Amino acid sequence: MTDTPPSAPTGIVYIVGSGPGRLELLTLRAAHLIGEADAIVHDHLIADGVLDLARPDAEKIYVGKESSNHTVPQDELNRLLVRLARAGKQVVRLKGGDPFVFGRGGEEIEALVDSGIPFEVVPGVTAAAGCAAYAGIPLTHRDHAQSVAFATGHLKDGTVNLDWPSLARPRQTAVFYMGVGGLAEICRQLIAHGLPEDHPAAVVQSGTTPRQRVLTADLATLPDLVDVAGITAPALIIVGTVVRLQQKLAWFQPG
Ligand SMILES: C[S@@+](CC[C@H](N)C(=O)[O-])C[C@H]1O[C@@H](n2cnc3c(N)ncnc32)[C@H](O)[C@@H]1O
Repeated sequence: MTDTPPSAPTGIVYIVGSGPGRLELLTLRAAHLIGEADAIVHDHLIADGVLDLARPDAEKIYVGKESSNHTVPQDELNRLLVRLARAGKQVVRLKGGDPFVFGRGGEEIEALVDSGIPFEVVPGVTAAAGCAAYAGIPLTHRDHAQSVAFATGHLKDGTVNLDWPSLARPRQTAVFYMGVGGLAEICRQLIAHGLPEDHPAAVVQSGTTPRQRVLTADLATLPDLVDVAGITAPALIIVGTVVRLQQKLAWFQPG
């Protein structure tokens, strides 16, 4: 790919969240921009069928991003966005969920700002909101949780070194993204920091899609249950007494 001369009009980059998986959860703004884009730079976890909304002649560039398998390094990806925009293209950078929740949207925007490229951010339904809604687990409830904490279970160095006292607070729902690999450690740390072994916990795999699976248990038993069931990414862990409501409130029948 070659850069156009400096006189060419600069394009724009739209950092777009595609929601947690179900196509209909895409925002109208996202659908409109995807339909107009010259180039779509997309992740692994994007809503099913979302690329079918693109123009047939739109360039579609896969840049991966499964938690430990980043197909394109972040620096290279930032440069790609700048190069496409400088070539005058209307670019959609398409991400799963919301771009600003464990989505590196901020890092990409910094690169655009530094290069003087215009941009817009289009929020999406983040996995916590989508999975909770489709599993029938309200993240807050006046009888159960007055706050919600989002945390990542996958740190850059492979450890799960989080602020455990704040995540183990009572009357709070804690949601762990990218936490399946570190689930046993997450449960152990939450118990070590004061939550009872029978504190409710759930895992939601492929939430909002026809492949959705929900397992509910407690901190002591969830890791083994998840192992036996063969739960794999993408999956979200929800910890809190709100999980008890799932049996009564589950409404979504996958498939
Ligand atoms: C790199 S993070 C991206 C999060 C995204 N930006 C968001 O706002 O949802 C990827 C993680 O989100 C969670 N996730 C995304 N989609 C999911 C889904 N449909 N079901 C369960 N978890 C999901 C999983 O924990 C997955 O490992």
